[in-house]
Amino acid sequence: MSTIKKNNRRQFLQHSALGLASATFPGLLLANQGQVKSSPTRGFNPDVEIEITARKGYVPILKKGPNTQVQKFYAKLLKGPKGTLQHLKGNYLGPIINYEKGQKVRIYFNNALSEPSIIHWHGLHVPQKSDGHPMYTIQSGERYVYEFEVMNRAGTSFYHSHTHELTAEQVYQGLAGLITVTDDQEKKLDLPRDEFDLPLVLQDRTFNNRNQLRYLRGMHSRMTGFLGDTILVNGKPNVTFSVKSRAYRFRALNGSNSRIYKLGWDDGTPLTAIGTDAGILETPETRPYIMLAPGERVDLWLDFSGRSVGSKLVMYSLPYSGAMPPMASNMQKGKGGSSKRMGGGMMGGGMGMMSGGGLAQGAKFPIASFNVTEKVSDSPKLPKRLVKFDRLTERDVDNAHKPLPIAISMKPMRPMLNGKSYSMDKVMDFERVPVGSIKKIKIFHDHGMEKGAHGNNNSKMKMGGGMMGGGMMMSMAHPIHLHGQQYQIISRKPGGMRLDEYETVKDGFIDSGWKDTVLVMPGEEIEIIKPFQDFKGFFLYHCHNLEHEDLGMMRQFYVY
Ligand code: C2O
Ligand code: CU
Ligand code: CU
Repeated sequence: MSTIKKNNRRQFLQHSALGLASATFPGLLLANQGQVKSSPTRGFNPDVEIEITARKGYVPILKKGPNTQVQKFYAKLLKGPKGTLQHLKGNYLGPIINYEKGQKVRIYFNNALSEPSIIHWHGLHVPQKSDGHPMYTIQSGERYVYEFEVMNRAGTSFYHSHTHELTAEQVYQGLAGLITVTDDQEKKLDLPRDEFDLPLVLQDRTFNNRNQLRYLRGMHSRMTGFLGDTILVNGKPNVTFSVKSRAYRFRALNGSNSRIYKLGWDDGTPLTAIGTDAGILETPETRPYIMLAPGERVDLWLDFSGRSVGSKLVMYSLPYSGAMPPMASNMQKGKGGSSKRMGGGMMGGGMGMMSGGGLAQGAKFPIASFNVTEKVSDSPKLPKRLVKFDRLTERDVDNAHKPLPIAISMKPMRPMLNGKSYSMDKVMDFERVPVGSIKKIKIFHDHGMEKGAHGNNNSKMKMGGGMMGGGMMMSMAHPIHLHGQQYQIISRKPGGMRLDEYETVKDGFIDSGWKDTVLVMPGEEIEIIKPFQDFKGFFLYHCHNLEHEDLGMMRQFYVY
């Protein structure tokens, strides 16, 4: 059933410890200069052919006043099933792209912006050349051709700009959209379909008084990440869904640059998830709330059956704390403490940490309302079991005792992975992975407080507030995303957060399914198992706080 080919043959590969040796690939720089030929492959016969153009546009986002200038993916279906593209009218989001597993896809991407760009299909398992690696960034007026087969199982993915050092701003300006994949397993389930299967794309923005997008570029706001004061759902503010008294599937995607949502209902009703990232779960998971970090998706089963016509539910981002550096959140509390906003409204202006209009990370705010407007008697029932897939265990990996490290660290103004900033043409020894292997990877915070790097730093960090060394002052939550195949999370160990703060988030992580992005709270250590199958080449891993990504909190694996 699963597409994972288990590799029980242990390969005892020599990795140099935390590999200081690195290899340089000058060819990549050539690619970046547009010297890689990108044209349709003869003999590749696509089932689906799409032309996507990134262009400046003007759309009505706010109800009153002028249209907002955006960057937008305009798309046209050249070949393939009619429902492949679902256009959202008057919206800056690109159309929803609906794929079926097994389809062969060709996409012509035209860059009609006045700056470089490239698209990445976040969640899809595709060859390096079709993954939107920033080395393939094309210039204004150029065209890039993607070709791939949809190998993913059913789930929800995300396409967005991945332009070198411009990702955050281009996604902010609108270069993003939702992808769905369906397959035979999913079709056998009685899940809500069509008008009952809806997107829930969450983004925060800040507008000036002429309705134009404001994006802060100050160094400090880039370090914490951009936080807007206006919450958009599917590209619009103050969204209300009129729903029938039955079950719906809402595909929630956090497409924000750095805001982390804690999804929950105003009346305390728990939330049920049937999928995470690009995969449906084995069994539904019901939680009091669900944490959703930038780049993550969660397929929600929202059941309004039994609710009477006229009833209204509000989905909130509920208050939480501990995701921001202690320094920044103390400032938040200090300045905004008297207001009703949870977590304070303001970030210390003096520190230059104002990150928009004053809606702090962890603040409580409404996301969308759901009004029950029609009574119906039939509704799909939540299946007890969803899909089957293999659980990856340490027996499947060839490096159980030597996990590949992803060490998170922050120097002032420099968030890093494995002690390095991104560089297009470099990989370290341990970032070289043989194709076909399945690896254990350990993601952890490394504040340089202990010699010998990659242990965890619990002893000092447990002390919380008072005892923090320089590194801890910068400790914050990071959503870590790996390109290529989805992975499974095998363990999550809390560490550096104050217990009372950890309590505000800990029930919201759904770690049982297939993932490509995982929220790592301060001090946490997370182990994952990831297959590196099918494709050789360069596959990125990075923080999906997009400001962090652009500041160089990104590295790559070289699969050979
Ligand atoms: Cu969603 Cu490398 O990105
Ligand atoms: Cu990605
Ligand atoms: Cu980060």
